Amino acid sequence: AKYLYQVGKNNSLLLISSLKNSITCHAWKGVSCTHFRGITTTPFPEFQGDSRFKSHADLHNASLQNPDHFWGTLAKSRLQWFQTFNQVKDCDINKGHIRWFMDGKLNASVNCVDRYAEKNGDAIALIWEKDEPGTEEYVSYRQLSQMVNKMANMLKSFGVCRGDRVAIYLPTSPVAVAVMMACARIGAIHSVVFAGFSAEALAGRIIDADAETVITSDEGVRGGKIIPLKQTVDAAVANCPCVKRVFVYQRTGNPVPMGKLDISLDKEMASQSDVCEPEKMGSEDLLFMLYTSGSTGKPKGIAHSTAGYLLYAGITQRHVFDYREGERFGCVADIGWITGHTYVVYGPLSNGATTVLFESTPTYPNPGRYWEMVQRLSLDHIYLAPTSLRLLLKEGNEWVKKYDRSSLRKLGCVGEPLNTEAYDWYNDVVGDGKCEVVDTWWQTETGGIALAPRPSAPGAKIVASKPMRPHFGIQPALMDKDGKELTGSNVQGALCIKSVWPGMARTIYGDHKRFLDTYYNPYPGYYFSGDGAHRCEDGYYQITGRMDDVINVSGHRIGTAEVEDAMDDHSQVAETAVVGFPHDIKGEGIYAFVVTMEDINPEDADTLRDQLKSIVKTRIGGFAQPDRILFTPGLPKTRSGKIMRRILRKVADNKPEELGDISTLVDPSVVEILVQKHEMI
Ligand code: WTA
Repeated sequence: AKYLYQVGKNNSLLLISSLKNSITCHAWKGVSCTHFRGITTTPFPEFQGDSRFKSHADLHNASLQNPDHFWGTLAKSRLQWFQTFNQVKDCDINKGHIRWFMDGKLNASVNCVDRYAEKNGDAIALIWEKDEPGTEEYVSYRQLSQMVNKMANMLKSFGVCRGDRVAIYLPTSPVAVAVMMACARIGAIHSVVFAGFSAEALAGRIIDADAETVITSDEGVRGGKIIPLKQTVDAAVANCPCVKRVFVYQRTGNPVPMGKLDISLDKEMASQSDVCEPEKMGSEDLLFMLYTSGSTGKPKGIAHSTAGYLLYAGITQRHVFDYREGERFGCVADIGWITGHTYVVYGPLSNGATTVLFESTPTYPNPGRYWEMVQRLSLDHIYLAPTSLRLLLKEGNEWVKKYDRSSLRKLGCVGEPLNTEAYDWYNDVVGDGKCEVVDTWWQTETGGIALAPRPSAPGAKIVASKPMRPHFGIQPALMDKDGKELTGSNVQGALCIKSVWPGMARTIYGDHKRFLDTYYNPYPGYYFSGDGAHRCEDGYYQITGRMDDVINVSGHRIGTAEVEDAMDDHSQVAETAVVGFPHDIKGEGIYAFVVTMEDINPEDADTLRDQLKSIVKTRIGGFAQPDRILFTPGLPKTRSGKIMRRILRKVADNKPEELGDISTLVDPSVVEILVQKHEMI
């Protein structure tokens, strides 16, 4: 036991992984392993031996008080540069002006692929956990490098240039990763659109980014079902005059109609050379953009930089999860969301890790899928969303116990609050009480994990449902209603961050004013997250949820305005208001209050409900369809015409006794109607 511990402390990572491979399963499960699992902070070799950094607190303080030294040192040692930077940062948070690693030149694909392909090309980069269990495919760093280079040459040969935007509408797959890396290699900015978005939503994002190139596949496969991706792209592209070419990858090989713009990706790639000189990108050149929902109807293209994002992705993946060389990292997010970008692709690959690409669902073919995968692939880490835990825990413990999970060391989760029941189940049943549960708070805009219980001082506790501490570079602040910062503990307010860190978003693509208005102008001198939080003793934070009109459904951000805009288009609809309500599995469900032009007959109500759901499916995607739709003659409004959403939320939450003062409404009687109707649907 002592030996293992010292190995960890001395940071001899190779020795640890070879040890892991050589010790028997029995020993791995035994005392020494428990002890080994207890080490909670991967040391920073860069700061070892520096007498200023004796503790975790020293390091965290340094990241805030001397960020130039902290991040400058890490950027030099963790990233590979064509030309190093000569200034660590140029930031003015008051103006939302964020720049890191000035004048540096690098390429993200070199950092994520080449350097590991050269060092140990046989090491596994990707494990593609395809939809059918047991059909996984392995891609080594050498193979990934070949794919990326060929793909990059293919894009170039069709005229895709540095700075161009490339829309990606693909299932989570090695090809998708290779496309992202190929864009990075030639300096094109990728915009991955989750392959569950509708044709209209995809078209909106393609047009906003003014993308000439789209990359998709014939079909997707998820939960045993075929998803007609190319068909969706065809419908989208028909409304996008900017699109000049669509590359089609054969995921299933089923025949799909190929039109004038369509190019077979598989065929074109095959004839390309596997050597493509990487572009020398500036630190601040955009690496990618990713659309996310805000409080208005139009999605925001959150833009991330090359050097700062990549550094932050790598540091957080390695240190929050205590990732060690040779381990297998299983983040089950889709590449269409930020979690997929940072913890399936850029974080793990920039650390030379083995990362899992999960194509399936938590319940396919049965609720044991995750744990069967953990056993089959011998995963060291799993990173998932609380919604899947809530779903799976209802199915019973047998689905977990059936499988050997002793390879797991860390259990991560992200996307929504982890309730105590889900935490306990994750910790006690999935982890057998031997793994740490690492709940991480962050956002598309933060680029990587901002609050998490790890890394931390040895012995620091993890507490269910309020487990979070700021990561390096992050200085959280809670603001009161008057915009003043709250001090001390046991306070609750708007969650802001008053420091700058390399991974933070740089702009909203094409709309910097909206970027400033959303994140920097609400509290001058602070980045505003849109979430509320509570600060407990010992600096622990607990997230209380969104403070704006964004709903978090199964960890997916959906703007209420987007759903309202879609339903408002129905000819029978006069007005709508959408709010979130507590949902057992999804965390939050979508509740729509709909005012119709004319009274509708009760027998027509279900038809109209179906039509409204179908409009939302067409405009946004199936995942944004309302769970409940209530038809009402009016909405609760103030004299100035503002809808009182607070009241709608109480109605939707079954709490009519907490409605509070409704006397300021133009027509208070409408509330009674809502309460009655709510009880009936
Ligand atoms: C929510 C996902 C509670 C939060 C990485 C945030 C969380 C939004 C947590 C960002 C957590 C994320 N506990 N809430 N651990 N993690 N959230 O941009 O409301 O898809 O603002 O990024 O998810 O969602 P996004």
